[in-house]
Amino acid sequence: MRRNVIFKGNCVRRLANESLFPNNSIDLIVTSPPYSDRRKSSYGGVRPDKYVDWFLPISDHLYRILKPKGSFILNIKENAHKGERQTYVIQLILALKERGWLWTEEYCWYKKNSYPGKWPNRFRDNWERCLHFTKQRSFQMYQDAVKVPIGEWSKKRFRSMTEKDFIRTVSRTNSRFGRNVANWLTKTKVYPHNVLDFEKEHYIEPTTVINFATECSNRNHSAPFPLELPSWFIKLFTRQGNVVLDPFMGIGTTAIAATLLARDYIGIELSAEYIQEARKHIRQLRRVR
Ligand SMILES: C[S@@+](CC[C@H](N)C(=O)[O-])C[C@H]1O[C@@H](n2cnc3c(N)ncnc32)[C@H](O)[C@@H]1O
Repeated sequence: MRRNVIFKGNCVRRLANESLFPNNSIDLIVTSPPYSDRRKSSYGGVRPDKYVDWFLPISDHLYRILKPKGSFILNIKENAHKGERQTYVIQLILALKERGWLWTEEYCWYKKNSYPGKWPNRFRDNWERCLHFTKQRSFQMYQDAVKVPIGEWSKKRFRSMTEKDFIRTVSRTNSRFGRNVANWLTKTKVYPHNVLDFEKEHYIEPTTVINFATECSNRNHSAPFPLELPSWFIKLFTRQGNVVLDPFMGIGTTAIAATLLARDYIGIELSAEYIQEARKHIRQLRRVR
């Protein structure tokens, strides 16, 4: 199988090619397809009532090529239309389950800098779904890989330990939350959200809410991922040398993240202009490394 390539064309046709994409060959799929009726001018836009029929043939190929212990992350969000939320994402989840996928998890991508606005009937919509599908209940997941260094603040905090910090204190509201500051003394790495929470002295386990700002710099695409988003899932679900596929590659953020993390990538994209942009970035990375 060719690795570290971007194929131009419609992914449903490319994925059907078994010599390019053998059975059980991909470790992780991270992708964001065009959302229904969005950005018609730049890259199409499938009608909500046609979305499931459009996506199912693609997802069948993805199922065939994903390794049994692999993961498929689908970033998507339904719009509100005529005062109601669309239902095509919910219908898609149910249809994918019928085709054999397990809907293993849903990560909520909280976009703290999402488009501002407030309406008489709703508030600002500041999150998107990252649906996690697998082929079986047991899949590869490396939770420690998303930890970050604990940070300088901890040195100061640990210098001023009191007796209370050596006992587990529980929340006064009788929730099951508790903390024992002394347990942190030997830690050098923590989950990213813990850094903030611990500074506020709340101990919270890693959650399914992931917090990355949307991409604001002009990267010649109307909706690229922030680099942190594919990086998070690549670290969580793959090891070095594994293969990551993005069948709606855009300007190649998934490929860039995979390259930076020493994984191999395969991309598919309709637009020659976006492919050129992706290749330019990856070439620059290779020169720098
Ligand atoms: C939401 S964007 C993905 C952006 C990407 N995550 C990035 O960071 O640049 C969806 C992309 O899918 C491409 N696309 C749409 N339909 C496609 C198809 N059938 N096959 C392959 N690519 C397609 C569009 O040109 C667009 O660049």
